[in-house]
Amino acid sequence: MSRPFYVTTPIYYVNDVPHLGHAYTTIVADVLARFHHMCGDDARFLTGTDEHGQKIVEAADKRGLTPQALCDLVAPRFRETWIELGMNFDDAVATHGFRRDFLRTTEAHHKRVVQGLWQRIQDRNPDDLYLGSYEGWYCVGCEAYYTDSQLKKTPAGESFCPVHERPLAWVTKETSYFFRLSAYGDQLLEHIERHPHFIQPEQYRNEVVGFLRGGLKDLSVSRTSFTWGIPVPEDLRHPGEAAHHVMYVWFDALTNYLSALGDPFTPSGSDGAPDVDRYWKSAVHVIGKDILRFHAVYWPAFLLSAGLPLPRAILCHGWWAIGGRKISKSIPATRVSPTALAADLAGTSSVPATGVDAVRYFLLRETPLGNDGDLIYEGLIERYNADLANDLGNLINRCLTMLVRFGGGGIGAHDAALAATGPHATLARVAGEAARDARMALDGFAPSRALEAVWRLVRETNVYIAATEPWTVAKDPARKGELDHVLHTLAAALWWTRLLIAPVLPAAAAALDGWLGAGRAERDLRWPCEDGFGSDLPAMTPTAATPLFPRIDDKRAAVLLEKWLPPELASTSPVEVIDEATTPPPLAPLAPLAPMIQFADFEKLDLRVGVVIAAEAVPKARKVLKLTVDLGEERHRTIVAGIAKAFAPDALPGRRVLVVANLAPREMLGLTSEGMILAAGDDAILALASVDAAAPPGTRVK
Ligand code: MSP
Repeated sequence: MSRPFYVTTPIYYVNDVPHLGHAYTTIVADVLARFHHMCGDDARFLTGTDEHGQKIVEAADKRGLTPQALCDLVAPRFRETWIELGMNFDDAVATHGFRRDFLRTTEAHHKRVVQGLWQRIQDRNPDDLYLGSYEGWYCVGCEAYYTDSQLKKTPAGESFCPVHERPLAWVTKETSYFFRLSAYGDQLLEHIERHPHFIQPEQYRNEVVGFLRGGLKDLSVSRTSFTWGIPVPEDLRHPGEAAHHVMYVWFDALTNYLSALGDPFTPSGSDGAPDVDRYWKSAVHVIGKDILRFHAVYWPAFLLSAGLPLPRAILCHGWWAIGGRKISKSIPATRVSPTALAADLAGTSSVPATGVDAVRYFLLRETPLGNDGDLIYEGLIERYNADLANDLGNLINRCLTMLVRFGGGGIGAHDAALAATGPHATLARVAGEAARDARMALDGFAPSRALEAVWRLVRETNVYIAATEPWTVAKDPARKGELDHVLHTLAAALWWTRLLIAPVLPAAAAALDGWLGAGRAERDLRWPCEDGFGSDLPAMTPTAATPLFPRIDDKRAAVLLEKWLPPELASTSPVEVIDEATTPPPLAPLAPLAPMIQFADFEKLDLRVGVVIAAEAVPKARKVLKLTVDLGEERHRTIVAGIAKAFAPDALPGRRVLVVANLAPREMLGLTSEGMILAAGDDAILALASVDAAAPPGTRVK
């Protein structure tokens, strides 16, 4: 029996239409599902829409719609976008070979399961859900409560959401059910300790551990000030009270991962919920870093309280920006539609769906999974031309042309003696390594590394063609055996390329299958066995290819860039950075020591470990960079640092720095700097101060 592999995306809020950021998460999950299916696993994919809560009520009000009408309008937009990006739902088993679901939280079944989970917690641990009252800060954008230490303050003292950079709303005292989150910190730490791969990549695991070590507060999990949510089930301890409460939207939303599999709380007949039993423990939640805490702390705590197993892994990725700008409602040009971008990239391709492949490839190849990405359009065109038009497109074209011209519609024959020599042996070895490395990378959730490995095969095949010169061999009838082997090797390389690109570039892979005449449906594909190169070919009757990834020439690039780059984005083109890091300034006399201070003076400093999340140049200011620094509790501290001459912005994300965290905010160059990072150097900065081990962000330095 094959192993289950259940992969989920976050369910998207319907106050927004799908943009490239949403597409990224969904594509990552889709690639993993396709890959695991190819490895023989029993894959299952889930996505959907998050339809309750205050955010949706407000968005519906703005448009003069009821919340339900807004949901009914927007949910299909998400579903259709994923279909356009190559993901089938209704006939997924027939096409992809595995099941793909789209769940809406307004479905009756989901509501029943959410109420079942609440009831289960109440029955097992009555003290875990208790009645109290809540007042405090709330961000409707995040649908999250903020404590004083988590929120940001403007210089005027206004409370701000660090994620949405908008003022927070004050929730006036409201009766609320609380979940006893505070009781689960140790169990969660223990689980993370025992399952080092529970939260990936490692930087996010560290972030969660830091948060847990700081201690957990109980969580308000119901609201009485609006009704657009799932009703709280009757609570016999407080007759009549529950009727006024709807559940906190995250309690409702997170449960989608379970409800999509069945109803474990009200088993029908004797069957129970077989899909929950089968798939649940294999769940991998793909999420963006903005919602890590909900998935890595709240959700597992709810499950522990209900006595349910935890998912296998939480796979957290970074954020995409567009031309250096955060994707935001206030900058329309950042709200890139993945389908429109795909259509533009498809251009004159004979297989229009390869535009989707190009988007998928770029997003996965450009940035390692946990890091933030930036869509720079010039870089997109460059990568498209180099990797897809040139390396892959040309390879397919050249190989098929030669197979048709010299092989007369056949694929030659393998020659075992020849296979062990020279370029033939090299290509077979590189192919085996590519299959192995890409498999290991995808198994370890590292799609960018997997694509690098696959491209080593693509490039090596181009090298093989140059080394073996099939056109010369074909001229000499005495070398017929050699020609047959070369053609067979080219067919093998194309067949493996077809398999190895299939999870990320499904349209190109299908087109290649058609030209090879292999006739394999996607659902029947299996990942190649690393020592099977050349011996695992299906019957094939190659025909010539038509252009798959037509090169974007300068003229078309100019047209596309003009279309994609409205003035507000064009102005963010990278600012010149003078990198003087490699040329230290001449030695100057050391500055004299400052006057002596007392320990009490030193104690006033609150020094913390920070991790740089983003760094950008500041227009018209050559000396400074604007840094966004993760300080643990506070994830987005803005610090303006005079280090631009020593460090390029892209060298900084991920670096640990030391932050003076309690320095009063200062206005600099129209920006508010909220602290300082420590750096060595008198006039010119030479180095950044850091810690020598991966201390979690927010750790105090003394
Ligand atoms: N509804 C919640 C999730 C509930 S899951 C039980 C939510 N929805 S959302 O519509 O705001 O989508 C959030 C997810 O979209 C992020 O976690 C991330 O996966 C993805 N992205 C949204 N913008 C993004 C970028 N700019 N870059 C990368 N991914 C981003 O939160």
